[in-house]
Amino acid sequence: MGVVRAFRREPEAETRPVVKPPLKWAGGKRWQLPELLPYWRAHSRRRLVEPFCGGLAVATGLVPEKALLNDVNPHVINFYQCLKKGLSIEFSMQNESHAYYRARERFNDLLATGKGATEEAAGLFYYLNRTGYNGLCRFNSKGGFNVPFGRYKTIPYRSTFEEYPAAFRGWMFTCMDFDRLEVEPTDFIYADPPYDVPFTTYSKGGFSWEDQVRAAKWLSRHKGPVILSNQATKRIVELYESLNFELHTLDAPRRISCTGDRTPAREVLALRNLR
Ligand SMILES: C[S@@+](CC[C@H](N)C(=O)[O-])C[C@H]1O[C@@H](n2cnc3c(N)ncnc32)[C@H](O)[C@@H]1O
Repeated sequence: MGVVRAFRREPEAETRPVVKPPLKWAGGKRWQLPELLPYWRAHSRRRLVEPFCGGLAVATGLVPEKALLNDVNPHVINFYQCLKKGLSIEFSMQNESHAYYRARERFNDLLATGKGATEEAAGLFYYLNRTGYNGLCRFNSKGGFNVPFGRYKTIPYRSTFEEYPAAFRGWMFTCMDFDRLEVEPTDFIYADPPYDVPFTTYSKGGFSWEDQVRAAKWLSRHKGPVILSNQATKRIVELYESLNFELHTLDAPRRISCTGDRTPAREVLALRNLR
């Protein structure tokens, strides 16, 4: 007679769906994931903090259990907060310039009347991001979104995002300047501020050289692991070296410049407390 073994079934672990970054976002760091994953795996029980989360390429690639994801851009954060609650877009999204400009006008009306933090604004922001030129997020001096129509051949729009509430479980989204974030000493910080633009004090994204120095000093005070990513300009390298970070340089994916130069841009990862 065979031995009958009784197996007790473990309750099924709640699996977290792996999702794609839902927006197009300038400066996405998906390409850094092979470099970041070995560092993250050694600390993956910690909370991930991204003070500059942008398009979420890193959080959706590292898939932390707990995360604090922050960006100073209120529209991107409103969109993520709505996705976490369960967003569905009710209007028909068309890749057509008249429809695009009508939606842009409606979005700007919502902003002008203090209704920027609504589900309707989140849906319009998604549509404008996918349909507008290069996924840019740019505003005029009066605060109106002014990105032109993008002229893509086809756009894979989504009107429902069923897997995002579970994917964002345990992730908190906030909108503030990075140095107001309430960070715990055990948090793992991945910081990807706007690129340092060499030889200028003020960069286009409104992130000045003083902001770069402020970010570096803020990161240098953190007791837990830190990874900073930036363009490897001379002054960024000197700044992080002076604060005793360990520096690794990387080749960013090739970008063809207007002169046809295909030399990859040099980027730097500055590390602390990772051993
Ligand atoms: C290079 S992008 C981050 C890209 C992101 N790592 C990704 O992979 O998609 C930099 C982000 O910093 C945000 N930002 C700029 N100034 C900021 C500030 N003072 N505090 C917080 N976020 C800021 C921008 O809105 C932008 O989304």
